[in-house]
Amino acid sequence: MSELHYRLLNGLDWPSVQALCAQEGGDHWSQPQWASSLSGDWVMGAFAGNSLVAVLVLQSGYLQAEVLNLLVDPQWRRRGIAQALLEQARCQAQLWQAEKLLLELRYSNHAALNLYLKSGWRLDGRRRDYYPRLEGQGREDAWLMSLPLAGQAE
Ligand SMILES: CC(C)(COP(=O)(O)OP(=O)(O)OC[C@H]1O[C@@H](n2cnc3c(N)ncnc32)[C@H](O)[C@@H]1OP(=O)(O)O)[C@@H](O)C(=O)NCCC(=O)NCCS
Repeated sequence: MSELHYRLLNGLDWPSVQALCAQEGGDHWSQPQWASSLSGDWVMGAFAGNSLVAVLVLQSGYLQAEVLNLLVDPQWRRRGIAQALLEQARCQAQLWQAEKLLLELRYSNHAALNLYLKSGWRLDGRRRDYYPRLEGQGREDAWLMSLPLAGQAE
């Protein structure tokens, strides 16, 4: 994707993150959640010119790392940007010497499920009633997924 460039984000990028989140329907983090990640986590952004078009948040833990958030501007989807960000996250987790990557996603999020399966992730389980539903009352399940990292023990 030659027209894009990637760089790590920090607190100064909050207005760009806010603008990107505004493109998406409602499943956003709060400003305090973003402030915490922009100051403490590995947050990679994809830019088209000066516009932030995608972001991935990766958090380091003991022998593992977790993808906490991944969002691509609706106008930039299906161009391989999420896959490119996941590959960068995988490389960063290996630098941290993590043995695996983890994440959870909504049971109804078929686009993300396809993305992760295509990127080599596996389904580890399902957590009942984990998320409040985006529409209507009640809760929905989460998929738990992981990606073992090459060269590391499972
Ligand atoms: C899920 C999301 C991150 C995918 O971003 P993207 O940049 O469009 O994904 P990619 O172009 O890298 O897609 C790679 C593969 O994922 C799968 N995929 C992506 N979007 C899909 C969709 N809408 N429907 C079905 N499969 C999809 C496909 O297998 C795709 O490969 P293909 O285009 O060759 O068929 C994006 O739709 C998004 O931001 N959604 C809202 C936020 C979200 O759900 N984040 C994930 C939370 S865990």
